[in-house]
Amino acid sequence: MSTAPALSTLQVAWLQEIGLDKHMLARYAADSEPFASGSAAGGVPDKTARAPAGMVSLPMRTEAAAPAKAKSAAPMVRAGDALAGRVPVRASEASAPAAAAEPVPADWEALKAHIAECRACELHAGRSQTVFGSGAASSPEWMIVGEAPGDFDDRAGLPFQGKAGALLGAMLASIGLRPDSPVFFTNLIKCRPLGNRTPRPEEIAACRPYLERQIALLKPRRILTLGRLAAQALLGSEADLDAVRGQVHRVRSETGQEIPLVATHHPASLLMRPQHKADAWRDLNLARSIVIEASEAAQTAG
Ligand code: URA
Repeated sequence: MSTAPALSTLQVAWLQEIGLDKHMLARYAADSEPFASGSAAGGVPDKTARAPAGMVSLPMRTEAAAPAKAKSAAPMVRAGDALAGRVPVRASEASAPAAAAEPVPADWEALKAHIAECRACELHAGRSQTVFGSGAASSPEWMIVGEAPGDFDDRAGLPFQGKAGALLGAMLASIGLRPDSPVFFTNLIKCRPLGNRTPRPEEIAACRPYLERQIALLKPRRILTLGRLAAQALLGSEADLDAVRGQVHRVRSETGQEIPLVATHHPASLLMRPQHKADAWRDLNLARSIVIEASEAAQTAG
């Protein structure tokens, strides 16, 4: 019996697009129906369309047990604790200045307007505009947190407009998330660092309250972080990305909501290091598995 999920021809094409080679994909039987077609409203995989549980060679997560690849149980942290000084941070981060001194608005539109005027760090000088985020703004299925806007994003005022964004779209499509799925995209920091350099600790610290408030107001059902910095910031961890990948974490928002979080590679890094694409695919399957679990739990309950 095959242990691979059934993939549609389209999904195989997407997976090839994101770099998985034909040998790896040969394990997956092509099927005429996508396994994660999702409802029009929610993009939640349809239980009847998914591969039978026993046939899926995915890291399935339960509350008590992390998937086989998981290194350790993931403790719950409050989103952003590392940068708020509630858990240990690197010495360089500890000296970062306090974030924006003014109160952070508690209303979505006011927050957006506030961020548009932000001058809490030096990045404001190099931006054309801030990049607040885009997508479904009310309890999205997923909140995707990248690192920082790039040049295209800065010009458009929207995240993930460039090549990394195109790859991200293909990655999400491979788990059934389509452009109209309820997903919100944002970044750890809202202004483009010139030359696409890595954001500095003080810049991340200055922007932290904005991401925390976005999470509190959005109430995302799940968070997917892209790259080391977003994972470290939201998990309050200094660990390398490989130490936090492969497991489902739980973070707590300002309002006390517990949110499952999966960390994976940044698409820009996958463009440079295609050897990590297989790991990213595993992470995406883990992400998909928690949507399926939630959907099954809802069906059992209701
Ligand atoms: N564009 C974004 O909006 N975020 C990233 O992390 C990379 C490119």
